[in-house]
Amino acid sequence: MTETILITGANRGIGLALTKISLMKNMNVEACCRNLRNSKELNELSQRHSNLNIHEMDVTSAQSIINTSQNVKFDIDILVCNAGVNNGKGNIFSKDHNEKAIMDVMMANVAGPFLTIQNFYPNLNKKSQSKVAIISSLMGSQVHLSSNAPIYRASKAAANNLMRTISNQFLNDNIIVTSFHPGWVRTDMGGDQADISPEESAEGLLNQFLNLSMEDTGQFFNYDGKALPL
Ligand SMILES: NC(=O)c1ccc[n+]([C@@H]2O[C@H](COP(=O)([O-])OP(=O)(O)OC[C@H]3O[C@@H](n4cnc5c(N)ncnc54)[C@H](OP(=O)(O)O)[C@@H]3O)[C@@H](O)[C@H]2O)c1
Repeated sequence: MTETILITGANRGIGLALTKISLMKNMNVEACCRNLRNSKELNELSQRHSNLNIHEMDVTSAQSIINTSQNVKFDIDILVCNAGVNNGKGNIFSKDHNEKAIMDVMMANVAGPFLTIQNFYPNLNKKSQSKVAIISSLMGSQVHLSSNAPIYRASKAAANNLMRTISNQFLNDNIIVTSFHPGWVRTDMGGDQADISPEESAEGLLNQFLNLSMEDTGQFFNYDGKALPL
C-alpha cells in the first residue's frame, strides 16, 4: 500500500527535505507552502513527480487550511505539522519580542498545528493507525533551560502540550499523535553552524514516522527515535 504524507512548510528547510525523501520512498506527497510563487524548488519537483501534489496553505488561517483539505487527493497516513517561525532571539528584554513578533510565533507554532490537525481530522480518520507528527523543539522542553528565545520556547512547550491533549482525544480513533525534535539543523532557522543537514534530519524523522505505533502516542521524540522529556 502506498502511504500518503502531508507536510506543512514544505518549500524550504526540513519540510523540503522531508518532501524529497518521501518522494524517494515512492510515497504520495501532499506538500503545502504558504506562497507557491516563492517555492521554486517545490514547483520544479512537482513537474517531475506525478506522486507530488503541491498546495498553497497558510497554517495560521483556518480558511486556507479548509480550502487545501478540499483539494487533497488521498486520505492521509502521516500528517506532519512542520511549518514554524522563530523571529524572537535574545532574552526577555530583547527588542525582538514585540507584540507582532509574539503573535506571529504563537500563530504559526501553536495555532498552526492546532488548526491543521483540526481541519485534516476527516482525512486522518478514514485510515487505521494514521499518524500526526508535530515538529516541535527540544527548546520547548521544561528541562532544557536557557534565557534565550523565551517566546519560541513557550510556543514549542505549548505545541508539545497540544500533542498530549490531542493524542488523548484521538485514542478511540486509533490515530497516533506525537511530537519530534528534528535535531539542530542547518536551515534558515537553525543557521550554518548547526549539527546536522536537513537531509539527515528528514531521513531520521521519516524512519521514525513510518515505525510509530499506538504505544508511542502522546510522546515527544528526537529525530533518531530517542524519547525526550516534555
Ligand atoms: N532548524 C532547526 O535547528 C530546528 C530545531 C528545532 C525545531 N525546528 C523546527 O522545525 C520546523 C522547520 O524548521 P526549519 O529549520 O526547516 O525552518 P525554516 O528553514 O525557517 O523553514 C520554515 C518553514 O515554515 C514555513 N512557514 C512559516 N510560517 C508559515 C505559515 N504561516 N504557513 C505556512 N508555512 C509557514 C516557511 O514558509 P516560508 O518560506 O513561506 O516562510 C518555511 O517553509 C519548525 O517548526 C522549527 O521550529 C527547527
